[in-house]
Amino acid sequence: MKFLLETYKHNMCLIRKLNRERGTKNLKTKPRILICDPIEENGIAKLRQAGFEVDNKPTITHEELKETVSNYDAIIARSRTKVTKDIINAGNKLKIIGRAGAGLDNVDVQAAEKKGIKVLNTPEAPSHAVAELTVGLMLALARSIPLADKSMKEEKWLKKQLTGWELKDKTLGIIGLGNTGEKVARIAKAFGMKVLIHKRTPPSPKLLSELEAEYVPLDVLLQKSDIVTVHVPLTPQTLKMIGATELGKMKQGAVIINTSRGAIIDEKALLNALKSGKLGGAALDVFEYEPPKDWALAKLLNVVCTPHIGAQTGESQKAATILLVEKIIGSFSF
Ligand code: MLT
Repeated sequence: MKFLLETYKHNMCLIRKLNRERGTKNLKTKPRILICDPIEENGIAKLRQAGFEVDNKPTITHEELKETVSNYDAIIARSRTKVTKDIINAGNKLKIIGRAGAGLDNVDVQAAEKKGIKVLNTPEAPSHAVAELTVGLMLALARSIPLADKSMKEEKWLKKQLTGWELKDKTLGIIGLGNTGEKVARIAKAFGMKVLIHKRTPPSPKLLSELEAEYVPLDVLLQKSDIVTVHVPLTPQTLKMIGATELGKMKQGAVIINTSRGAIIDEKALLNALKSGKLGGAALDVFEYEPPKDWALAKLLNVVCTPHIGAQTGESQKAATILLVEKIIGSFSF
């Protein structure tokens, strides 16, 4: 009897051990990942091939995400999904938050780091697209391309009224020299522009000489530039960093371009500067609220606007998905 009892105990112990091992193995080989915003199909296929169990819910609501996030080891978002503290706190198993794109302003990075959750993004992916749009907007402002096109569609020939200005020999002030700012600087150099740069820490002398650019304090950049373009991420430090005071320091008739995040420029102050004639124009791809709650800026004739399409190219979207998926796969050990 004693022998039977010992054998039973021993077998139960073995079964429990096996079950434990199977559970761990399953978890290791099949981490679960939730896609919360639309991403490229081949990225999803790549994750499945790598052994992930993928749930693709590109229209998931905040509440639905909060209810289900505890089932996942990783989530992927673009900019629609707000990965807020309540989502992060509900994600008991969460190990990775992936952001397909550059900006992390829709992810509470601090809350994630506090819980030991890795936040991965792809700042390198949209930089060509955003830099090219920035230069496109600069040209649109210089030559009033949107107004010229609109007048043609209305069968009006505004040749005399549409005298523009050239980029060559103009001073371009670039605030922020990350992936995008650097590409804008390279294109500006090719246009024969003089480039001033401001960022928190000075760029290397080698990079400055390569770009043929000058590193200056923000005040100097604002005072000397004909065109100012903003390429910093939105953080508590950069929120409304360009307000009435900064706009007041700009050259009379200068123009400003924003393809980073709307809330970096104080929109009310910008509206006043444009209406008063202090600024000659603005080109905006980003807004404090998207779509804007107030369309006053978009309606001004000296403002060129686009609906946050900086990263909206086929190439950029593909790159953001693939780079992120590769980073996520590399972060999991199977
Ligand atoms: C980015 O940060 O990559 C883009 O601005 C995101 C977007 O297009 O919404």
